Amino acid sequence: MRIDILSLFPEIIKSSLEYSIIKKALIKDLISINYHNIRDHSNNKQKKVDDYQYGGGSGMVLMIQPIYDCIKKLKEERNYTNIIYLTPDGEKLEQSTSNKFSLSENIILICGHYKGIDQRIREHLVTDEISIGDYVLSGGELAAAVFCDSIIRLIPGVLGDESSALTDSFQDNRLSEPIYTRPENYEGLKVPKILVSGNIKEIERWRDKKSLERTKKYRPGML
Ligand code: ADE
Repeated sequence: MRIDILSLFPEIIKSSLEYSIIKKALIKDLISINYHNIRDHSNNKQKKVDDYQYGGGSGMVLMIQPIYDCIKKLKEERNYTNIIYLTPDGEKLEQSTSNKFSLSENIILICGHYKGIDQRIREHLVTDEISIGDYVLSGGELAAAVFCDSIIRLIPGVLGDESSALTDSFQDNRLSEPIYTRPENYEGLKVPKILVSGNIKEIERWRDKKSLERTKKYRPGML
């Protein structure tokens, strides 16, 4: 998968995608992430990228020109399956959304700033609008990092244990069960006996029950 990210602050995204599993995916060439600073594409002498809203109103808007030209250039080089704008008024990111996008080949992500981007980009170039939750961030960069992390870890070969992405919370509309590791007893805090019983069937039943309990408690709407 190739991801091209347009942003005024690419370093914010870069720094959060250079560790652990994502770093391995980059090294193994399972993905490539290419950063494009929107300012570098401005035709303006002062490298201006934002302006006041037509019709009045507070807040600056990212101009059409630098974003349009950058996307045009990228599209001349290859085909893109999705051009995604990160915005609080987009479709809410769910595990099912990440599953779907993890199958894409080439995608472009646009990070807004200030009041957002010129609507003409959204209407004529963007294919999908994604929100990572009902709250407003100061820019789309952290949302882009969240989105990238959630899709990259699903790409075959990225996670060491292929099955582990399938047992994540949300994959079967349930929160995951509690997990433990060694030691079995730490200062009197013990691991549930069933998990060290060796009885696979009973362990599965226990996990299922715990996952259901947790879902009922924290996210009853998922059931
Ligand atoms: N940009 C600002 N807030 C955002 C959010 N909640 N999701 C996606 N992009 C955003």
